[in-house]
Amino acid sequence: MKISIIGGAGYVGLITGLGLAFHGHDVICMDNDQKKIDLLNSGQLPVYEKDLAELLKAAMTKNRVVFTNCIKTAVQESDLIMITVGTSGTRNGETDMSQLLKALKSLSYYMDNYKVIIIKSTVPVGTCDMAKRVIRDNLKNPLISYDLVSNPEFLKEGNAVSDFLQPDRIVVGVDTPHSEAVMKELYKTFDAPLIVTDTRSAEMVKYACNAYLATRISFINEIAEISEHVDADIHAIQAAMKLDQRIGNLYLNPGPGFGGPCLVKDLKSLLSFADKANVHLPLLQGVLNRNEAQITNIFHYINSEIKDSADKKISVLGLSFKAGTDDTRNSPAVRMLEKLIDTKANIYVYDPVVKSLPEHLQSRVTLAGSIEDCIFDADCLIVMTEWPEFQSLNLETVYHLMQTPFIVDTRNIFHPKNAYDHGFWYKGIGVTSSRYTNIAEVLENINYA
Ligand SMILES: NC(=O)c1ccc[n+]([C@@H]2O[C@H](COP(=O)([O-])OP(=O)(O)OC[C@H]3O[C@@H](n4cnc5c(N)ncnc54)[C@H](O)[C@@H]3O)[C@@H](O)[C@H]2O)c1
Repeated sequence: MKISIIGGAGYVGLITGLGLAFHGHDVICMDNDQKKIDLLNSGQLPVYEKDLAELLKAAMTKNRVVFTNCIKTAVQESDLIMITVGTSGTRNGETDMSQLLKALKSLSYYMDNYKVIIIKSTVPVGTCDMAKRVIRDNLKNPLISYDLVSNPEFLKEGNAVSDFLQPDRIVVGVDTPHSEAVMKELYKTFDAPLIVTDTRSAEMVKYACNAYLATRISFINEIAEISEHVDADIHAIQAAMKLDQRIGNLYLNPGPGFGGPCLVKDLKSLLSFADKANVHLPLLQGVLNRNEAQITNIFHYINSEIKDSADKKISVLGLSFKAGTDDTRNSPAVRMLEKLIDTKANIYVYDPVVKSLPEHLQSRVTLAGSIEDCIFDADCLIVMTEWPEFQSLNLETVYHLMQTPFIVDTRNIFHPKNAYDHGFWYKGIGVTSSRYTNIAEVLENINYA
């Protein structure tokens, strides 16, 4: 099939485009960011993502993908138009629909025959209905027919290629038998259950999934907090919970809270459109509040322990919102740095993949060139991202590099007993210093696969 992706050089658009090319479709990745299009045309990637370089190479070698900034080509040379533009959050939590509206208006202007228009961006419930009206109002030729489909994306950054190529399920929301048949044809080579529903339910599935994942993270952070106060061991609790098949083992690690481009903004968006529908969602509001408190609580702890931060050096490991990606959107690490710059300390950060600081941090934070430079002479080391490079650090070396052996491990990547044995003043999430016995050794041998 001939498919165009509007927003096709963005994270989701690129993986979707290259993934569909891998499945034998002819894909046009259209994006209005000329820099990204130029990079892609020269065989380079605008994002860091495992296995994506191989997918790009394969698609280019087989001439299955074209990168362009020309919307006219994208619309007129394809049967299906998939939209993957950004839908970031506004200040009041609503979804910013400006990129989507612009894309809809410009594609309807160039439509010259029947098209299936697929919204893959995460959008509030009812958006497909709204998009149908926008297209109708902007068609140059009002006799042209079209169908609107919702096809939310569930990939996880850091594992996005495999998530796209081997999804747990594919969800499509349709309102005509023809568009249903087209979507079945599009995904017929994928080995995954296809859930076909109406457009509103498909749009809601995405919010339901993200709200649930966010709930698990806030839940385990809350359990970690109470465990700390009653001297219970969060590692043992996690291990036991994860082995319960009704619960499952993912999204149950205590940490600095959820971040990234989706969970926070999607939860806020859900709360916002629920509010407009006069529906109060106290559980999900609590999930969001808990998440906002998480970083604040960790920061207050660091601030109170360091006391006078003047001339102290604080080193932060990690900038991306999680390991395996260079995405710093809504990253807990960035949120921590935003708090740290209000202290008098000298702030250093290192990330193995992110090589530039967000602009608003540049005057107050030093981006170190290596882990050693970051840690050297530090009075506090804060682990914000669970990169494997950090997990394999030799604590003896770290101890000798630091001025004051104080580690705040927001990802619980270090073994607490190991850290205490090396003489560190160590703070994990839900970890009390009094408690380290051989339980950790037992847990290390558990295989969750
Ligand atoms: N990143 C994720 O992990 C993820 C996962 C699932 C769903 N989503 C959803 O997918 C959507 C896209 O997210 P993303 O992370 O890929 O965003 P992104 O910012 O990386 O990509 C969006 C792309 O759209 C392009 N664009 C914007 N307006 C355009 C227009 N009018 N014409 C052509 N191109 C245009 C931008 O230049 C950009 O390259 C969002 O709705 C997001 O919530 C993201």
